[in-house]
Amino acid sequence: MKLSYAVAALAMLAGPLALAQPNPSLINDKKALIADLMQQMTLEEKVGQLRLISIGPEMPAEQLAQEVAAGRVGGTFNSINRKEQRPLQEAAVRRSRLKIPMLFAYDVVHGHRTSFPIGLGLASSWDLDAIRRAARVAAVEASADGIDLTFAPTVDISRDPRWGRTSEGFGEDPHLVSEIARAMVQGFQNGSPARSDSIMASVKHFALYGAVEGGRDYNIVDMSPMRMYNDYLPPYRAAVEAGAGGVMIALNTVNGQPATSNTWLLQDLLRKEWGFKGVTVSDHGAITELLRHGVARDETEAAMLAIEAGVDMSMADQIYIKELPGLVKSGKVVPQVLDNAVREVLGAKYDLGLFHDPFRRIGKAQDDPADLKADSRLHRAPAREVAHKSMVLLENRGRTLPLKKAGTIALVGPLADAHVDMLGVWSAQAVAAQAVTLRQGMTAVLGGRATLRYARGANVTEDKGIVEYLNFLNWDELEVVQDPRTPQQMIDEAVAVAKASDVIVAAVGEARGMSHESSSRTRLDLPENQQALLKALKATGKPLVLVLMNGRPLTLNWERENADALLETWFAGTEGGHAIADVLFGDVNPSGKLPITFPRSVGQIPTYYNHPRLGRPFTPGKPGNYTSQYFDEPQGPLYPFGYGLSYTDFSVSEVRLSSPALARGGKLEASVTVGNTGDRAGETVVQLYIQDLAASVVRPIKELKDFRRVALQPGERKEVRFSIDESSLKFFNARLEHVAEAGQFNVQIGLDSRDVREQVFELK
Ligand code: NOJ
Repeated sequence: MKLSYAVAALAMLAGPLALAQPNPSLINDKKALIADLMQQMTLEEKVGQLRLISIGPEMPAEQLAQEVAAGRVGGTFNSINRKEQRPLQEAAVRRSRLKIPMLFAYDVVHGHRTSFPIGLGLASSWDLDAIRRAARVAAVEASADGIDLTFAPTVDISRDPRWGRTSEGFGEDPHLVSEIARAMVQGFQNGSPARSDSIMASVKHFALYGAVEGGRDYNIVDMSPMRMYNDYLPPYRAAVEAGAGGVMIALNTVNGQPATSNTWLLQDLLRKEWGFKGVTVSDHGAITELLRHGVARDETEAAMLAIEAGVDMSMADQIYIKELPGLVKSGKVVPQVLDNAVREVLGAKYDLGLFHDPFRRIGKAQDDPADLKADSRLHRAPAREVAHKSMVLLENRGRTLPLKKAGTIALVGPLADAHVDMLGVWSAQAVAAQAVTLRQGMTAVLGGRATLRYARGANVTEDKGIVEYLNFLNWDELEVVQDPRTPQQMIDEAVAVAKASDVIVAAVGEARGMSHESSSRTRLDLPENQQALLKALKATGKPLVLVLMNGRPLTLNWERENADALLETWFAGTEGGHAIADVLFGDVNPSGKLPITFPRSVGQIPTYYNHPRLGRPFTPGKPGNYTSQYFDEPQGPLYPFGYGLSYTDFSVSEVRLSSPALARGGKLEASVTVGNTGDRAGETVVQLYIQDLAASVVRPIKELKDFRRVALQPGERKEVRFSIDESSLKFFNARLEHVAEAGQFNVQIGLDSRDVREQVFELK
């Protein structure tokens, strides 16, 4: 057996005799073109296609072009303009023997040149059209810079806000995140990744990255199969079903095996069960990390484990190029295993249209933009509109908001005039100076009608270790620039400004780097110096509006009790300052809803809303009675999943069911009437939850199944109808069969996950 592999490998080594290149007569037949090419490829050339290397310090440009010409590179990432990519593509299609085009990848996560709100912000919109539009704009901008593929969307379900990458994902709910996963893929690929203004989506991080133990990045994940299938896997699957061309493999382990060497994950689940037909990409250096995980003794074994598990492209490590030729020659890796990976890489290039035209996103030199960073290349209007929808009004006592465009307003806080933070992390090619800060936004929206007085009031933190950590991250400029004054001097100035004003707007939260890769936190409150600032501002007795900028749920107990209004704005992107000002002054009525639960304390984590049912659930009013609770603080979250206020009020009627029973294969309608009982036009999100009242396994107390955004004029009422069928009731049982079990179901409809109206029906 082994011998015949070795013979096949030797045949591959001998290489072709004739001049080889993609055969033009096969250009419209993907399978035949790839088969023809593969027949011509040497072993080295095949392995070269699996190599994805970062443009940058790793390899000087000239050396890189030589490597490409030698057929030793399949693609690069982090190159962000056509001038840089053109010589590499030329090296590939003019100088390399087989003329196989390169592919260029990049982390286009929430925008490319125009930054949209971070993942949690996009998710707070619960508006799939808006999210699709954000991804579409990102694709248009990125493709215009010669980028073919993005490492996005990030669809890791996160129930632990200590994890810094919570910011990148879309929250805690399988249904909401799955819907968003689809919308993002549709936005990036726009029907076909081959379009010159599309980029291919590579969904990540497969799988379960958001469930790392203790919220510590790169940690282990140990999870029951039922929880995986029901809660954590659906969004990746949704992205695959929406046609994502790529899948990035996670850095964590999954039940004792790193994802990178996890054959079950990459073969049985992804390829066989889900039918994924695209390319898989390792995360940065993940194959090397198999040594550190202790599942590979040496680099040879690491390469073997990864290729056999199904890692097609190796990102930023040299192990494949060093080890795979030898492994194939010795027969330790069968040629078919290598061929499968190569076929997928070539397939992705084909699907991207690169064989038809390798320069379709790079264009001609004479068409290159004179100024890559020109403001005219941005899409400010959609960024402002999407940012409007991403903001969540958490408190509004005595209708403090909206603010009047009159009098004197004190604007304070470390994030009030912070360009770089506005962008959030993974801001791709967004330029900090082009981001509108809150100070700029308020000034513009006020147009001189009120006096705006500004004082910084505090640094984001006074913790030197944290500042050093944030500035160590690989950015071009300093992330966090400290004001040299003492905390007290800054507070004194802010208090003086506040005293001379009618109302205080304080922009507080995190520096963007605090919610990032490898930025896990043990504490989720505001840094102490920001808390001191807020207490001093509160003592002035002036109305206090907090504008929160942060990339994860925070424990805001004092703030909730003491602020007159709380507006969660996440990191709102290039147009963030304008969008926040529009909401503060009531030109836009906030309508966002939390896509993730806010805990009261770190000790309460996890606090996700869709918890499995218990034998002894917490029973209010009966302390000390052996129910599931913490005895030292109030139960339940600070703010529940799905929560968010408006400047108007909405009413929701009782739930009406079209029938008390649902027949298999049939449909049932659940409806409510939603009314705007206030005096302003507004939008809200009506949410449908279902609870399986008795099942063969323990099921969640409720699960989001559908949602609808409705816009209502004052006094207007609308009927909102949801269609329920068997598919809404299905779950993976103990044998991982996807079933809807007969019995009673509780339909819950409301404007957040806690405050709902209910009705019961039966599945026959
Ligand atoms: C590591 C991150 O985990 C991943 O999300 C990203 O796509 C790659 N680096 C490339 O930048």
